[in-house]
Amino acid sequence: MKDVKVRSARDRLVVWMAVGLILLSVWWALRDLRSSSPTPNQSTNPALMPEAISLVTGDEPLVDVLTRPGCPVCHMIPGIPGATGQVGPPLVLGTTGPQRLKDPGYRGEAKTVHEYIVESVLEPQRFVVQGYPAHTMPTWYGSKLSALALEKIAAYLERQTEGSSAP
Ligand code: HEC
Repeated sequence: MKDVKVRSARDRLVVWMAVGLILLSVWWALRDLRSSSPTPNQSTNPALMPEAISLVTGDEPLVDVLTRPGCPVCHMIPGIPGATGQVGPPLVLGTTGPQRLKDPGYRGEAKTVHEYIVESVLEPQRFVVQGYPAHTMPTWYGSKLSALALEKIAAYLERQTEGSSAP
């Protein structure tokens, strides 16, 4: 009789430990969900899903070329209304482009700021700007931006400097 009681006490302990583990993992999952939602990356922001964006041909006005793919959601871009995003660096490549190319950590293939911009849009993981999150900028722009659109983006951004960053 005493033996049975000891065993059931032990069983109860095992059950409570299991319940505790389940609660802990539920809490962990919820915590993960909450902490990831403020970053508007491609998996949490429906406006940044590739299906939501039609091909940008480059014949659109420049504002649309930059706004339709959602760049302003994450970037400050001088001269583009509403482009006040803080997730990525301000797109003042006239100032920052030369610094990136000189960065000892830069492993890309670009030789000019223009090439660096095109590379950054097509392969954002090539060089992750220090202080900003990796795996955040969408990696599918190559299928949504025509060569002309990319040219226009690079030609515009390489002319923007820190001084022009006031809206
Ligand atoms: C979901 C957020 C997000 C969107 C949308 C986004 N970017 Fe980015 N971008 C980032 C982040 C974060 C970085 C910095 C990390 C890195 O280098 O990958 C970055 C880096 C860059 C860089 C390198 C900047 C530098 O200072 O070296 C360029 C250029 C750039 N983005 C252009 C664009 C353009 C053009 C678009 C629209 C076609 C765009 N981005 C859309 C988040 C985004």
